[in-house]
Amino acid sequence: MVLSQYNENKNWEEQMKFKVVNKMNKQYSKYVSIFFEGELEVCEHTSPEGKDLIEKLKKKNDFNSKKDQILPVTYLQDGELTELVFAGAGKKEEFDRREYRKTLYNLLKDMKGEISFYTPSEKLADVELLAEVVAHINYDFDKYKEKKKDKKENLLSLDLLLLDGKKIPVLEIETLMKATDIAKDLVNEQAEIMTPKKLAELAEEYGKKYGFQVEILDEKKAKKLGMEAFLMVGRASVNRPYVIVMRYFGDKENEYTYGLVGKGLTYDTGGLSLKPTDSMINMKDDMGGSATVIGAMCAIAKNKLKKNVIAVVAACENAMGGDAYRPGDIVPTMAGKYIEIINTDAEGRLTLADAMTYIAKKEKVSEIVDVATLTGAVVVALGNAATGVFTNRKEMFQKLDKASEKWEEIYWQLPLLPEYKKSIRSEIASLKNSGGRWGGACGAASFLEEFCEGLPWMHLDIAGTAFFDSPGFYYKKGATGIGVKTLYSYIKGE
Ligand code: BES
Ligand code: MN
Ligand code: ZN
Repeated sequence: MVLSQYNENKNWEEQMKFKVVNKMNKQYSKYVSIFFEGELEVCEHTSPEGKDLIEKLKKKNDFNSKKDQILPVTYLQDGELTELVFAGAGKKEEFDRREYRKTLYNLLKDMKGEISFYTPSEKLADVELLAEVVAHINYDFDKYKEKKKDKKENLLSLDLLLLDGKKIPVLEIETLMKATDIAKDLVNEQAEIMTPKKLAELAEEYGKKYGFQVEILDEKKAKKLGMEAFLMVGRASVNRPYVIVMRYFGDKENEYTYGLVGKGLTYDTGGLSLKPTDSMINMKDDMGGSATVIGAMCAIAKNKLKKNVIAVVAACENAMGGDAYRPGDIVPTMAGKYIEIINTDAEGRLTLADAMTYIAKKEKVSEIVDVATLTGAVVVALGNAATGVFTNRKEMFQKLDKASEKWEEIYWQLPLLPEYKKSIRSEIASLKNSGGRWGGACGAASFLEEFCEGLPWMHLDIAGTAFFDSPGFYYKKGATGIGVKTLYSYIKGE
């Protein structure tokens, strides 16, 4: 089965459908230009009649480049039908890059074919942002549609016109968008196909292709390591659990190794503490954290970052069955702590606990960042606009905050307090797996902190941001690929 939306034999630039050009050397199907208020200037290639027409239309439609204002113009030039679109970006002083993303997305989302894009403003000719928006528009998970997008004709292909003299930048962003698409594909695929085994196989495939090592541990090996809590969660599923270990050493002289852990629940029914259907419907996205770390590994390795990174995914399915673990059970962990099970739907933290112990003790990483669709509570708190972040080192959050800035993914720090720790104390075991409803995201994070082995650790709860039920911001319905670019920038140190 081919999962990727793209023809892998083509080069990345072609897949991206975004180019920077210095000259307009062909006929485009549309010419799109965007301006700040008061800065509209008509391209020098336009005929005098064309200019005259544009002036008249501007007046008639009161077009003065207000935010999201659009003026389409069609006329004949040299016997050719020429379609122009003028768009407004509002006041220069009020420019907001995150808003600009939405403006661009809405402006371009229904266009296809070869488009020339021009703006006289440097702020608006934002190469990375444009490339990203084009990639988001062109991504579609239409594998199960009878009528697929005929890629060639229906893709948006954008040439950004940068006037002569400007250097054409090297597009690092292409790798990042491809890696984001990989993460989206992994999440959008149904759980019937995206089993723990399939996830492991795909990680291996991407490792070969983009340049990182992959080791797969089956349940026998996991058992030997003592990853009992993880295995307990996956016990009732016919789709057996696997631990996926990905290693990339780009800086062999340096000891420092980043550790990434992704939640890899290929489906979460809730187990015996069964979820109602409405809450279960999107639970194929419960491996969103693993998709993010796999995507990040692809980008890091492909762009050959001078860093060492190890990523671990303990992949399994939380199913119902005769051998399902139960509320009231007490399960051992690799760390030696015992967990009293209050709710089998609080399963992510059990798998992450063992994955964190494994990456700390066996892979000996220097710090841990875990990414997980961990709690409904974080969705109640932040909706789909921001990812909740917890850390035992505030510098880690500061670094993440800085790394996320240019991608305009919002990360919001939430507290770890003794009160939350207290909520997960158990009377008969080391810990219990749920501290109840209130402050649920904080209780879950406090639970994870117990398994970081004293290392610098940061937890990203992406339950609200990994998957959109309906279109929003500049995401379509479905997986967002959240975190791939931010984690890349975090590790790169930018
Ligand atoms: N996978 C869910 C969290 C989730 C909710 C992800 C919504 C994406 C969207 C997680 O395993 C879960 O079920 N958490 C429970 C924990 C509770 C039982 C303590 C929750 O948040 O309700
Ligand atoms: Mn659950
Ligand atoms: Zn879950």
